[in-house]
Amino acid sequence: MINVIFFLFLLRCHVATTVTHSLKYLVTASSAIQDFPEFVATAVVDGVQIGYFDSNTKTAEASVDFAKELIKINPDYLKLYTQKCLASTQIFRARIHNLKEVFKQTEGVHVLQRLNSCELDDVTGKTVGFYRYGYDGEDLITLDLQKMTWISPKHHMSARQLALDTDEAKVKHKIDGYTDVCSRLLETFVQHGALLLQRIDLPSVSLLQKSPSSPVTCHATGFYPDRAVMFWRKDGEELFENVDHGEILPNNDGSFQISVKLNITSVKPEDWRRYECVFQLSGVKDDIVTKLEEAAIRSNEVPGSGFPTGPVTGVIVGLLLLSVCITGLLIWRKNKHGFQLVNGGARSSDEEAELQRVRS
Ligand SMILES: *[C@@H]1O[C@H](CO)[C@@H](O)[C@H](O)[C@H]1NC(C)=O
Repeated sequence: MINVIFFLFLLRCHVATTVTHSLKYLVTASSAIQDFPEFVATAVVDGVQIGYFDSNTKTAEASVDFAKELIKINPDYLKLYTQKCLASTQIFRARIHNLKEVFKQTEGVHVLQRLNSCELDDVTGKTVGFYRYGYDGEDLITLDLQKMTWISPKHHMSARQLALDTDEAKVKHKIDGYTDVCSRLLETFVQHGALLLQRIDLPSVSLLQKSPSSPVTCHATGFYPDRAVMFWRKDGEELFENVDHGEILPNNDGSFQISVKLNITSVKPEDWRRYECVFQLSGVKDDIVTKLEEAAIRSNEVPGSGFPTGPVTGVIVGLLLLSVCITGLLIWRKNKHGFQLVNGGARSSDEEAELQRVRS
């Protein structure tokens, strides 16, 4: 249930563009989730988590080798990131408290997330920044970077209710600063992480089916980067009906997975061979094409044709599902305006002011 909530919000955050590099900070603050930290922050470069903080350990850590190397050169990074996260833990706790009042909620699980990010286009050298909040799996409020105002089309929240800065000049100053720092950090990360971030990994693709009447899932896992598309086609033409596209999800080893379902109830057995699943990875010329064939399908049930793999594939499917749950946890371990070295060490007056605003 928790995973579902997070997925919903994050899915919408997924922007398919021609962007070459991105640095994303995600904060997930929650109330009343048992055995889960109240505050989790992660930093993610090109889909790879490079930093992590949670309110249980109260320490930030680098998640991959190149980030650990950078930390050695610049030990202040982690200290500052930790301080920022500790300050934000309080701010977000107060925000959730306020939101519960606004939405007249009393008990139960509530989740407030913030995503801020910058994206760098290698070709044009252009940088774009984002700033948005989500609550209980839905977009809550987003900063319109053109007008420097907060917009909340769905909930009609006012920035004041969230104790966000509304002064246009101040907001602009803050966002320009953020985008500047973010894009410089992104360049550094991309340089130092080139080996990891500019690799290309092809996935393994399989066809999965629960029972003979259920949809056939084409599942690709283990690919990198996360710029990929997958679809079903019939007689060489992409199908739009009877297909259900999943989103690209991270695996916990830094690779990605995606799946697309095809409802085959109205497909005649003799027509099966006209269908195929196509996987395309950005920057890779050859598609991975998988023909729809009964023999190629791995199923939980032992089919009539006598496939001796039932229990084994059952375990595989189980593991796949489990990995989706785990990646669910990993994906929202992102963020924070973490690495803002601009204002030095101690808790900034900005954060003090923010906390004051939220509490008043
Ligand atoms: C598949 O399509 C049939 C009709 O063609 C429909 O009755 C059925 O509900 C669909 N199954 C799924 C899982 O969407």
